[in-house]
Amino acid sequence: MTTVGFIGSGYIGSTIARLAIEAGHQVVLSNSRGPETLADTAAELGPRASAATSGEAAAAGDIVVVAVPVKAFPTLTAAPLAGKTVIDTCNYGPERDGHIPELDSTSLTSSELLLRYVPDAMLVKAFNNISFKHLLSLARPAGSADRSYLPIAGDCAPAKAAVTEFIESIGYSVVDAGPLADSWRRATGTPVWGTPYGPFSNEKGQPVGEDGIRAALATATR
Ligand SMILES: NC(=O)c1ccc[n+]([C@@H]2O[C@H](COP(=O)([O-])OP(=O)(O)OC[C@H]3O[C@@H](n4cnc5c(N)ncnc54)[C@H](OP(=O)(O)O)[C@@H]3O)[C@@H](O)[C@H]2O)c1
Repeated sequence: MTTVGFIGSGYIGSTIARLAIEAGHQVVLSNSRGPETLADTAAELGPRASAATSGEAAAAGDIVVVAVPVKAFPTLTAAPLAGKTVIDTCNYGPERDGHIPELDSTSLTSSELLLRYVPDAMLVKAFNNISFKHLLSLARPAGSADRSYLPIAGDCAPAKAAVTEFIESIGYSVVDAGPLADSWRRATGTPVWGTPYGPFSNEKGQPVGEDGIRAALATATR
């Protein structure tokens, strides 16, 4: 059993938490407004779920999921994430996040920007390319013919291995899509972002195999 801490427990954070609970893990949720605002969500998830401050969730997690708007990166506290395996689900959108010059110019990926605020975290990009509804509906047990693949990116092999094990436990197989510097290949609007799992209007989504994910990553341009 892994304890997964969540910094951000909205659509994607709470969906990952739900899959983690179903797989037998423990989760510690947090948001910007305080644990009392997550009491109902934690209660719904059951006895292996709790709500805490962001610092406590980060400290508790064997793996910590950061699932916040990119504009919140400067507010994150680096110390509790030092040395931790951290999953970055985040996508940059100027309409929500405001314009961030390094991201507009593509001189940095959003994960590399996050790393500036949490420099000692072992960061792995994952889950940013699938909508929360498809993530929930496409999860399948290992060995299922229609199990889908998710790409990960990162610079730290042990962290990637830990995240791969976690993702495999919650219903997906993994494609290693290289280092964080290449994670622009899965940013908002790229071929692997959303599209392979079907239109958002189809909440069930469509399963995607390894070849489909690799082909979509390979055709990304910037
Ligand atoms: N929605 C999707 O299907 C999806 C899929 C893949 C990736 N993503 C990406 O994942 C990120 C989260 O998306 P979302 O749709 O889950 O957003 P959301 O539903 O708006 O949830 C955002 C969460 O982040 C929390 N938060 C904001 N600032 C924070 C801070 N400074 N410290 C701690 N928590 C903070 C919010 O808490 P409060 O409500 O208390 O402020 C909320 O729990 C975004 O970057 C998004 O692009 C989303």
